[in-house]
Amino acid sequence: MAVSSATDGREHREVTTPEVTGFFHKPTFSVTYLVTDPISRATALIDTVLDYDHKAGRTGTESADALAAAALTHDLKVEWILETHLHADHLTAAPYLQKKLGGRTGIGAGVVGIQETFARLFNVTDGFTPDGSQFDHLFVDGERFRIGALEGTVLHTPGHTPGCVSYHIGDAVFVGDALFMPDYGTARCDFPGGDARTLYRSIQRLLRLPDHTRVFTGHDYGPDGRSFAWESSVAAQRTQNKHIVGVGEVEFVKRREARDVELEAPNLILPALQVNMRGGHLPPPEANGVTYLKIPVNRL
Ligand SMILES: [Fe+2]
Repeated sequence: MAVSSATDGREHREVTTPEVTGFFHKPTFSVTYLVTDPISRATALIDTVLDYDHKAGRTGTESADALAAAALTHDLKVEWILETHLHADHLTAAPYLQKKLGGRTGIGAGVVGIQETFARLFNVTDGFTPDGSQFDHLFVDGERFRIGALEGTVLHTPGHTPGCVSYHIGDAVFVGDALFMPDYGTARCDFPGGDARTLYRSIQRLLRLPDHTRVFTGHDYGPDGRSFAWESSVAAQRTQNKHIVGVGEVEFVKRREARDVELEAPNLILPALQVNMRGGHLPPPEANGVTYLKIPVNRL
């Protein structure tokens, strides 16, 4: 933590080193972060996860409850519940955790275009409006926000999806799926609105952050049997990322697109998109009191 002195001799609280705790969700290989101002205990949750048993169509809160318990045990004051993007591989627990812990939900403003795309795909006719109103706040590129004495800046880092953002908070940056660990590389760019060239440019932007910046990724898959890990640095990404080192834009796009055509759809893409585009709320129940999720056939 850095506490700088103002010229008038008074201590000016400006915390630059957040406490960061990652919670790994093995079923979806996702990482949720608790990002805390060590003085005030003000906290942001980033990319929370609601358990979902796809075969049974059943949601669960075991993982979210563990996160909430950690926040309550350490007396954290949750100010923000943030998404780096509209996830296609897990359901967000933002509404559930907001009820338990408070805080405001936030996501990049680009989510609106993505909501429009998926509202059309799922032919949503239940009054859902694709206008971002399902979130408390929509962040634009360069926007600043506070978590207690920590200052955060939002970087629009599209490519994996058009609405992806990274949250640069003190000496840490939460990149979602813009970068994975250096030995795993980068994320797919073949979802609607995704684009490999755009991702390459977003990554270059992230690599211009100071070398020592801690980089926290949204997923890890433990390649070649190594333990799951989610923290690297800008220097490590610049010098070791297997998809980036020595690879120019044209080559990156060629390799990324070749890789993406081989990839299967994520297990939870259909439920995840329908729930996440609603800010994590399930669709309203039908007349019989049951909530349904749709499967568009031959459309993905
Ligand atoms: Fe993602």
